[in-house]
Amino acid sequence: MKTMHDTGHRDPGFDTLQVHGGQTLDCEARSCSVPIYQSASFGFRDAGHAARLFTGQEAGHIYSRMSNPTTDVLEKRVTLLEGGVGSVATASGTAAIFYAIFTIARTGDEFISSKALYGGTIHLFENVFRDMGITVHLVDINDRSEIEARMGKKTRAIFTETIGNPMNTVADLRMLSDVAHAHGIPLIVDSTVTTPYLVRPFEHGADIVVHSLTKFMGGHGLSIGGIVTDAGTFCWDTFSALAGPNPEMDGQSFIERFGDAAYITRLRSAILRDTGACLSPFNAFTFLLGIETLSLRMAKHCGNALKVAQFLDGHPGVAWVNYPGLPNHPDHERAEVYLRNGFGAIIAFGAKGGYEQAKEIIDSVRLFSHVANIGDTKSLIIHPASTTHKLLSEEQQLSSGVSPDMIRLCVGIEDINDILADLEAALGKA
Ligand SMILES: Cc1ncc(COP(=O)(O)O)c(C=O)c1O
Repeated sequence: MKTMHDTGHRDPGFDTLQVHGGQTLDCEARSCSVPIYQSASFGFRDAGHAARLFTGQEAGHIYSRMSNPTTDVLEKRVTLLEGGVGSVATASGTAAIFYAIFTIARTGDEFISSKALYGGTIHLFENVFRDMGITVHLVDINDRSEIEARMGKKTRAIFTETIGNPMNTVADLRMLSDVAHAHGIPLIVDSTVTTPYLVRPFEHGADIVVHSLTKFMGGHGLSIGGIVTDAGTFCWDTFSALAGPNPEMDGQSFIERFGDAAYITRLRSAILRDTGACLSPFNAFTFLLGIETLSLRMAKHCGNALKVAQFLDGHPGVAWVNYPGLPNHPDHERAEVYLRNGFGAIIAFGAKGGYEQAKEIIDSVRLFSHVANIGDTKSLIIHPASTTHKLLSEEQQLSSGVSPDMIRLCVGIEDINDILADLEAALGKA
């Protein structure tokens, strides 16, 4: 059996990378699938080898809190799919977002973020970061003047989701990276709902990409995980955590020692090492398996979602439909610019009879699973105001676009006729 590296492929396509990327067959067993290295630690050849690994003079695995061979294949695969310089996998998407910002922000620092975010992320920003003395300014992410107005000497990053969950706000990544770079700060993008199959944010100037692997990347609703990927192109010279002397590295800075990979190396060797939200090797294995079919699943998710959005758009029991693939969506044109292969799987819509009717629809569906998740092969349904966004105040809910009549769908990859029939029956009953 050959690996991708010995088949003569020079520049493999996306579908090849999602199956083979990052994997080299081990020389002994030559296991065709990526083995699960279920081991906390890895043996040193001798005392010199151990010392070189600990000082970073030689690459290799020490302890699975920092790195693990199974997780390493996942990190390399996502790096190839995104087109970056390196990645670090984490125990959850939430940990990935926390680490992406904490690698460069300190007490007293600030960052600017879209207000149209997953509720848990708003919670992280407004509670945990605030408690740590790191201030977030939530803005309308496509309003350049609002962003400029919030920019100050302590601003360390702009953060956005590619498509804001759940109102499907499509971020203008080129405008955001231009503004960020003009102020000497990076653009950090959560591409969970798009995956690299729909958009590769680095091609539009983003500097760091994060994913909740839990969703479409893994794709089957099996494991919780996240990943941070570094484009390797941002100049970190004004960020003391990366440009300042490091006593652990004989006074060298991360930039001096690791060059383009300074950010992602600090994330692993300082933040992940010292706070420990690492991904388990078994979960890395499930994500690798899921990623092998990423493009096939995403194409089906997007195709089905467009048909569901069109069906809901003309339905008498529906007050409004929000899907970026519909021409009436305020960001439809932007979606056509940024999204390469479809408009995603998330649809929000309003039940004409308000909250009471929304509850009835949710209780009436049979095929849709009523769960707090997105990005499963199965079709999913939820009422955001009373669940995922419940911890937010009414004002915060409205500012992130969550209204009492709103139902969120994540359209799965089942037969479209069965999906439509289930919705038709539930809407009819309600
Ligand atoms: C867009 C987005 N980012 C991040 C997260 C957090 O990911 P996790 O649940 O893996 O911590 C979620 C979870 O729903 C999400 O929807």
